[in-house]
Amino acid sequence: MKKSLLAVSISLSLFAMASNVHAASIKAGKDKSATCAGCHGEKGNSLVSMYPKLASQNEEYLVKTLHAFKDGTRNGPMMSSMAAGLSDGDIEDIATFYEAQKVTRNSLPPLELEEEDEEGNEDLSEEQQAELKEKAVAAKQAAQEQRDAMLVQGNDIYLNGHLESEISACIACHGPTGEGNKPAAFPALNGQHADYLIKTLNDYKEGKRANDADNMMHMIAKRMSAEEIKATAYYISIMK
Ligand code: HEC
Ligand code: HEC
Repeated sequence: MKKSLLAVSISLSLFAMASNVHAASIKAGKDKSATCAGCHGEKGNSLVSMYPKLASQNEEYLVKTLHAFKDGTRNGPMMSSMAAGLSDGDIEDIATFYEAQKVTRNSLPPLELEEEDEEGNEDLSEEQQAELKEKAVAAKQAAQEQRDAMLVQGNDIYLNGHLESEISACIACHGPTGEGNKPAAFPALNGQHADYLIKTLNDYKEGKRANDADNMMHMIAKRMSAEEIKATAYYISIMK
């Protein structure tokens, strides 16, 4: 009895020690990420869509990526100088901090409406105005249908890939909810900005981003059309 109580209290205090270390690392990471906040947001939720969100990204991928920027294996004109000054310990702390943050949700992709010419409408008859209004409603509905179709296509590629063009299903490595695979250091994608996703998929496609093990992402992205990249990116940006 005594022995097992002792074991419990030892394991509890080890647990407490580990969580203290973890908390200290998050705290240190928060301080050390002060210079990153301008672009990536205070808690890793950037507001500019070309700056990736880092909140809730897994630590393993963040550590790997920051080393890649530092040693130049991943291109990033803005990032290589930022990473250059980070020690291994800084990288660990910063990654622990970002992993512990919650990623924010994105809004639905914007509707692609043609610019309307509002000028001169006051001179039109009521009938003509009604006709214009009807047209605008129809155009909005068409744009909504187009957006829905795009998201369905993106969902399909995410879940099933594309057999004929040999695009692997994203779900296999990035997980059912886009949560990534922490032990394997496969990045989480959910909540990421669509604009960044599109840019980075094109970078893989064109070989500008090329530090992915075994060319995994290059082999996939190079088979994707611009339309497929856009649809998949927008789907991922709003997946839950
Ligand atoms: C001047 C703006 C700027 C600052 C400051 C900045 N970054 Fe970045 N960061 C970027 C951009 C832009 C990218 C995307 C690079 C690309 O296109 O591949 C990026 C990418 C990243 C990525 C890769 C994300 C992913 O999903 O692959 C990580 C990790 C990162 N930054 C961490 C940091 C850290 C840590 C700091 C602070 C030490 C920092 N950044 C400071 C602009 C910035
Ligand atoms: C075989 C596993 C695998 C499959 C399948 C896969 N990925 Fe990836 N993906 C990876 C790995 C590994 C990385 C990180 C590579 C690196 O470090 O650059 C990655 C990175 C990414 C990134 C960059 C994330 C970031 O934060 O910068 C995007 C976007 C992405 N994948 C999208 C997709 C899409 C879309 C699909 C499906 C069409 C897909 N992936 C299928 C393994 C995979």
